[in-house]
Amino acid sequence: LSKARITAIGTYVPEAIMTNEDLERLVDTNDEWIVQRTGIKTRHIAASDEFTSNLCIRAAEKLRDTYAVSLDDVDLIIAATATPDYSFPSVSCRVQAHFGIKETGAIDLNATCAGFSYALHVANGLITSGLHKKILVVAGETMSKITDYTDRSTCILFGDGAGAVLVEYDPEQAGFESFTMGTQGSGGIHVYQSGLSTQMDQTPLAGDGRIVQNGREVFKWAVRTVSEGINTLLEQAGLELDQIDWVVPHSANLRIIESICEKADIPLSKTLQSVQEMGNTSSASIPLALQAGIDHQQLKYGDRVLIYGFGSGLTHSGLIIRW
Ligand code: ACO
Repeated sequence: LSKARITAIGTYVPEAIMTNEDLERLVDTNDEWIVQRTGIKTRHIAASDEFTSNLCIRAAEKLRDTYAVSLDDVDLIIAATATPDYSFPSVSCRVQAHFGIKETGAIDLNATCAGFSYALHVANGLITSGLHKKILVVAGETMSKITDYTDRSTCILFGDGAGAVLVEYDPEQAGFESFTMGTQGSGGIHVYQSGLSTQMDQTPLAGDGRIVQNGREVFKWAVRTVSEGINTLLEQAGLELDQIDWVVPHSANLRIIESICEKADIPLSKTLQSVQEMGNTSSASIPLALQAGIDHQQLKYGDRVLIYGFGSGLTHSGLIIRW
């Protein structure tokens, strides 16, 4: 059914690294607790003058230079982010301005940590329908800008980063094989950033513009939802698990990935993740994990990859793609 394929990838993370020892100096925590509960060892933190659009631009530059491709004929830019520089103008418009792409649309898409997989779904749909030919998807976050560094239950989790992929028309080697998505908006209260409204469904919100999370609830929902979603994806595509080369769940927490694998009967060695070195980078975590797979000579051209994003909303989406 699909007529689209991912043809290039680039990623970027800010230079500064925050270790667990650094966090020990900020809140009452320790390396052992953080590693045991999350697997996270380090995260990259944006400089004070570095914002999501800057990270996305660097990732797209990396893509352009690595694959020696032109971005001039991109006809749509989709930026997946929950932490844009501004409410408006959008990150995608900042990306367009930087590259001076002449005839392109530009939209931001906010599906939090599921943003990258939603953006791929939209890109595949628009290309397969014949409406677009070459879409630049960027997924970037500066989670550190909205993290409360006095809250030990959340500040240990998040990091900053960005990824970019090109999705292009290619009916001969179409790369999108299966898609699923779902939403449980009633769980919105479990992980949020307060905004213009200070209450949700009559419940007053805390956080003052920072992330607030009920980690336990998100954890349970994620493990159940993603393991079921993986089975749905496989059934839809008529595939068995051993026909999948790599599983790439959103890198929220290594324990979540382990629990998903246990429930869905997936060997951990079949997963690609970015959480240990980069923390939870929300929509950027999956492209960062894919890039890590390429860098470590794991992910190769033609591999079948199952990716699965999940996050605040609560919302989730997964795809099976050919790399
Ligand atoms: N260091 C030391 N102790 C801590 C820390 C810390 N950093 N954080 C919490 N604790 C303590 C708690 O106070 C609690 O102590 P108590 O028993 O005396 O009350 C104890 O550790 C256990 O706390 P829990 O919150 O129950 O710990 P849990 O095992 O659930 O781990 C965690 C917390 C890591 C946040 C986990 O729940 C998790 O990862 N959840 C999923 C988060 C996630 O993936 N979110 C994705 C969506 S993000 C988005 O969409 C933007």
